Amino acid sequence: MEFEPTHQPLDDSRRNNQQAWDRMARAGHKLTAPATKSELANSLKVIDGLGWLPGGIRSWKVLCLAAGGGRHGPLYASAGAEVTVVDLSPVMLERDRQVAAEHGLQVNTIQTSMDQLDMLPSAMFDLVVQPVSSCYLPTLDALFPEVARVTKPQGIYISQHKQPANLQASLDTYTGHYAIEHAYYDRRPVPPAVTPNLLREPGTQEFVHSWNDLLGGICRSGFVIEDVSEPSYGKSDALPGSFGHRCYFIAPYLRIKARRLGSATTPRLITF
Ligand SMILES: C[S@@+](CC[C@H](N)C(=O)[O-])C[C@H]1O[C@@H](n2cnc3c(N)ncnc32)[C@H](O)[C@@H]1O
Repeated sequence: MEFEPTHQPLDDSRRNNQQAWDRMARAGHKLTAPATKSELANSLKVIDGLGWLPGGIRSWKVLCLAAGGGRHGPLYASAGAEVTVVDLSPVMLERDRQVAAEHGLQVNTIQTSMDQLDMLPSAMFDLVVQPVSSCYLPTLDALFPEVARVTKPQGIYISQHKQPANLQASLDTYTGHYAIEHAYYDRRPVPPAVTPNLLREPGTQEFVHSWNDLLGGICRSGFVIEDVSEPSYGKSDALPGSFGHRCYFIAPYLRIKARRLGSATTPRLITF
């Protein structure tokens, strides 16, 4: 199925982030690495390390949201799903098409912002997966309502987010500790990293989103949260200022499994 890309104009931060991800993809940044052949051969294991998709996803309709780069789309397609990838970066989406073609997989790609999904019909997807990306939106007002709209009743929404303190805190340390440098309620982008750092994507604008907006926003949009998980990267013996040390002090991400409310059964036509 083909969908028209968005024609809505992009604001400055979305355009900035689109260009930043285009540059990262062209430069071969780590976060733009496509799935490998061996990962594609074990796709369900790679996708579902937490066991949140116990029956597999064969023939499911899956939306990989803000998930370009030739990784998520091909992995979910390789596990048997009918996949649509949404991303704002044309270079990241081109990588999905390339990887899919190389491995004989089918993925639909749509260039649009993750919170502008008007080209997609309501209740289309059994599963929406969203890697870390909500931080690139200045506000989450439209994101979760749009995800809820395109998810089938009883469908699953798995998303991962930078947790607020990760974005608020300093990246470097001179004392062995980290300082809160950006206020929780400051709606402006957080200060960019001065030197390359795995916790900030170069050239992007990132925004802190409160727990109220993240967890409350998912629930208020018509999902029930079934499980959460904090991927663990912290190392107690890591060098101060390193990724492992910072992650030992501040858990960087939260992964959330939510289920769309509503009845999965098709309403029957009752005749009298
Ligand atoms: C974490 S990366 C995607 C997945 C990556 N391949 C990986 O393996 O982690 C985040 C993605 O969000 C996309 N992005 C940033 N802002 C966006 C927006 N407003 N709407 C849709 N995608 C956006 C970027 O282009 C980037 O591809």
